[in-house]
Amino acid sequence: MRESDTLHYFDYAATTPADAEVIAAMADCLGVDGVFGNPASSSHPAGVSARRLVERSRSQVAALIGADAAEIIWTSGATESNNLALKGYAELGHARAHLMTSVLEHKAILDTMAYLETRGASVTYLKPSPKGEITAEAVAAALRPDTGLVSVMLVNNELGTLTDVAAISKVVHDAGALLHVDAAQALGKTPIDVKAMGIDMLSMSAHKVYGPKGIGALYVNKDVMACIAPQMHGGGHERGLRSGTLATHQIVGMGTACELARQHMTADNERIARLSRRLLEGVLSLDGVVHNAADAQRIAHTLSLTIGHSGFFTFMLNGNLAVSSTSACNSASGQPSHVLSAIGLDSEAASRTVRVSLGRFTSEASVDFAIACFERVVCQCRALAA
Ligand SMILES: Cc1ncc(COP(=O)(O)O)c(C=O)c1O
Repeated sequence: MRESDTLHYFDYAATTPADAEVIAAMADCLGVDGVFGNPASSSHPAGVSARRLVERSRSQVAALIGADAAEIIWTSGATESNNLALKGYAELGHARAHLMTSVLEHKAILDTMAYLETRGASVTYLKPSPKGEITAEAVAAALRPDTGLVSVMLVNNELGTLTDVAAISKVVHDAGALLHVDAAQALGKTPIDVKAMGIDMLSMSAHKVYGPKGIGALYVNKDVMACIAPQMHGGGHERGLRSGTLATHQIVGMGTACELARQHMTADNERIARLSRRLLEGVLSLDGVVHNAADAQRIAHTLSLTIGHSGFFTFMLNGNLAVSSTSACNSASGQPSHVLSAIGLDSEAASRTVRVSLGRFTSEASVDFAIACFERVVCQCRALAA
């Protein structure tokens, strides 16, 4: 197979392939010779073995974020975790009913907040600093005496920017409010210690960290468990916060993925940072290519690049190079990215922006292929303009 016939995948922020160890562990939980029992069937060995695997997985997820295993609630992914945290808080009718988030959040937060507004909630949407960050100062300035819950993302899915959650937690807690963090893009890519960072609730997703799709978790600090209402009723699983038969294979997939992330994060990050630098040097040497939010605190994995040539369309890059025009959710809506608009790009510049995200299986050859693709397209644009 020629180099150009293979897919060069640069869309790890949309989803990751499951690690081979994850797939093997999941497969062991499905068939008649495997651990297929219902984890709630405590009266026989099939159920007891499944429960044991579920609890081991819970500990593996907890270990990656510095939580106690009892503080991990299984969900179907970060979208559900975000819904459980926000609706679960709002529904209990706390006296502190004001909610706060930022305009940079994922739709799983923004659409949930919009829904809560239709039910009478008051929500403040923070704007980013010129660097593209949501700062503790911005949070502090918008806090009200009745602010109950602040929700910010740890890593932005389009820009790769990092939020100073520890600083935000301090001002939020000083004001007597709770902090929820959407860590879908952060898990396994940057160290997380929920206790040291002062996080009350944290949303996670397995498929962004080499686990399967359809499984995630919400960390809920044990002291705030009583502050949220379940959104799924029936059976009282997961401390009554999320009913439904536990999907052993999915859960084991997420646990294994988190264990691998814990073991390999430092080495993975070093390699990805090196490849990311190589990619950036290559594309920024082409005329008219801009790295968005470059001055912000960031992870190396996700790059937002605007191609400053009017004839550029993302499809010119796509084919054997898998990049995305924006987040997978915005791609589906066809709307300009709300994140890019929020950092000051007009709709034209936003339409000429691509997200390039690297991961565990990115190779140097793929990086060089990507640079060559950008070079080809920039040349085409220049020729079109001439
Ligand atoms: C920041 C962020 N939050 C939430 C989600 C939703 O995660 P899931 O696909 O697990 O529902 C995503 C997925 O793209 C994301 O990037």
